[in-house]
Order: sequence, then C-alpha cells, then structure tokens
Amino acid sequence: MRGKFITFEGIDGAGKSSHVEWLADWLRARGKTVQVTREPGGTELGEKLRALLLAEPMHLETETLLMFAARREHLARLIEPALARGDWVVCDRFTDATYAYQGGGRGLDRAKFAVLEHWVHEHLQPDLTLLFDLPLDVARERIVLANRTLDKFEQERVDFHERVRLAYLERAHAHPSRIRVIDANQPLDKIRVKLEEVVSSACL
Ligand code: TYD
Repeated sequence: MRGKFITFEGIDGAGKSSHVEWLADWLRARGKTVQVTREPGGTELGEKLRALLLAEPMHLETETLLMFAARREHLARLIEPALARGDWVVCDRFTDATYAYQGGGRGLDRAKFAVLEHWVHEHLQPDLTLLFDLPLDVARERIVLANRTLDKFEQERVDFHERVRLAYLERAHAHPSRIRVIDANQPLDKIRVKLEEVVSSACL
C-alpha cells in the first residue's frame, strides 16, 4: 500500500521544524516507516541548490525554476520511491511554499506556478498539509530570540512576510480538505494534541 505524504508549511519563525521530528516519531510509534525530508533540499543535488537559493540574490524566475528543479529531483529520488515502498514521507515545505514566497511574497504571476506544478507533480499532491499560522510579530520575536544568522528569506522586510502569510491562508482557503491550519501561537503541548487529532483523522 502506498504511504502517506505529509507536508509542513508556515512563515519563517512559525516553529514548524520542531514539530516535524516529533510527528515522525509519533508515526513511528504507530508502526509506520517514516522518511523525514525538506525543501528546498532533500537530495544531494537539492541541498546544493538550497545553499544557492538561501544565500544568492537571483532573478525571481530563476529562483522559482530552481525551487521546482530541486523538487523534481526530490520527487524522483526520494519522495516517489518512498511512497511506492509504503513509507510515509514527512516533508518540511513543498509547493505551497513556492505559492506563498515566490507568489505572495515576491509577486510572481501564479499562472506560471500552475504550469510548473503540473509539469513537476501533476499526479501527486500531499495527502495532508499542516499550515502553522501565527501573527507576524510573534514569529519575528522567535527568530530574534533564536539569535542565529538569517538566510535570504528571513532577511526580507515585514511586509514580505505579511504577504507570505496571507498567500498561505488563501491557499488553505482554496484547498480546505488538504491544508489544515494549525494555530502556532499556543503552547507546544496544545499544538501537539491538535497535530495528533488532525493527522489521525486525515491519515490513519
Ligand atoms: P526553512 O524551511 O524555514 O528552513 P529553516 O527552518 O532551516 O530556516 O527555510 C527555507 C526557506 O526557503 C524559507 O524561508 C522559505 C523558502 N522557500 C521558498 O521561498 N520557496 C519554496 O518553494 C520553498 C520550498 C522554500
């Protein structure tokens, strides 16, 4: 039986990454074999593209094409074979991030993504997408508290991140059965209870 494909999304500072490993362990405790991965990245080539994407200034269309190039490699080498084996794949960001960042944040025409999405994964969508949502100021505060070097996207201005957040919420509105919005502005244990509930009802 084909495995399930679960993606995590949200603005920078939403705290999603800390839930990825937790969910993978929670699924493993329920007998699933789980591959944890991320975008951009997830393969040797993809991680090289990630390093470029997160550091180098580039034309918006170059950025978008590279995101989808990394994604094509990721699907072919990791995601599709894993799902076919019956493994579950938990992925930190996927195509919704391109809609939110390159579309919402940077303003690239969405019709262009639709073409790339169709090309790269016409027959595959996540079974479930967990969108971690919280107010911008709370997310920014978390990033400041983490006190680490900021990547190219994290260095963008507040209005960029505001547009990213709105684009994510719009996308959730357009795909209500696949994308579930998680209120990330609450204590960790409450978020985990919610995650268990959502994943159990959508996938188990
Ligand atoms: P992120 O997932 O936040 O990793 P970390 O938790 O290590 O900071 O970083 C990836 C960045 O890439 C994030 O700022 C969003 C951006 N991104 C896009 O702009 N478009 C995409 O399609 C993807 C997958 C990511």
